[in-house]
Amino acid sequence: MNTELLVSDAAHFRVDYEINPYMHTEVQPDPVAAAAEHASIVAAHREAGRRVVRVPSAPQCPDMVFTANAAVVRGDRAVLGYPPPERKAEIPYFHEWLTRHGFDVIEAPHPFSGQGDALACGDLLLAGYGQRTDRGMHGILAKALRYEVIPLRTVSPRWYDLDLAVAVIDTRTLAYCPQTLDEQSGRRLQRLGLDLIEVGLDEAARFALNLISDGTTVTMTRQAPRLAAVLRGRGLRVVELDTTELAKGGGGVRCTALTLDNPPPREPS
Ligand code: ARG
Repeated sequence: MNTELLVSDAAHFRVDYEINPYMHTEVQPDPVAAAAEHASIVAAHREAGRRVVRVPSAPQCPDMVFTANAAVVRGDRAVLGYPPPERKAEIPYFHEWLTRHGFDVIEAPHPFSGQGDALACGDLLLAGYGQRTDRGMHGILAKALRYEVIPLRTVSPRWYDLDLAVAVIDTRTLAYCPQTLDEQSGRRLQRLGLDLIEVGLDEAARFALNLISDGTTVTMTRQAPRLAAVLRGRGLRVVELDTTELAKGGGGVRCTALTLDNPPPREPS
């Protein structure tokens, strides 16, 4: 898992609007540092043996570096994101890229944060809602991608996407911050029978959970040393990176890559 990733670039990354509580138009990313940060993330993926493909960012799309919101992909199918109006202009670029690369692309009829709110874990899809994703998308995702959808509601705009609250480490292991989910969702997660690593609110707020794991190497922010230590203690290779510029847009490592290699369901559709 997570060995084939679609990224963009930070060439046009800036804060033109405030659509999450981490964004402040008066706090702009430094363009050189942002480009370096993004380049280090891509280099870390390559060092981990992951294949990285690129869609160039468009000048009028200041958040296009966060490709995770473009879609969610399983096998050769992609369900496109339906972002807030400020980010609508990104979608045609991703639609075109996915179509050109042979994906069967389905448009979302309701607000949907793409992979930001749709984390694949084997045959399960951990599906966020309550912020950027309309719950009406869950049935559509289940049908289109043949996942067993696990609805998880985050409790605050601080967790505007599920990928800030929950991370898939491997198909048997999740990391999550219990305070980010409503009670029913927390119970639903506990009933899955997966190994759960708990992360504190302080590290979650510093994008600890916005990580990419392929089951061997975890690529994550430098801002969460406790989680990094726990993961190392479990035998994982952990690569910690600077994410201070991306954080000004309210994102981290996970947000900058759309996973293209989620395995399709076993039986034919
Ligand atoms: N500024 C972007 C937004 O608010 C950040 C998106 C980060 N993506 C993510 N998957 N959490 O839409």
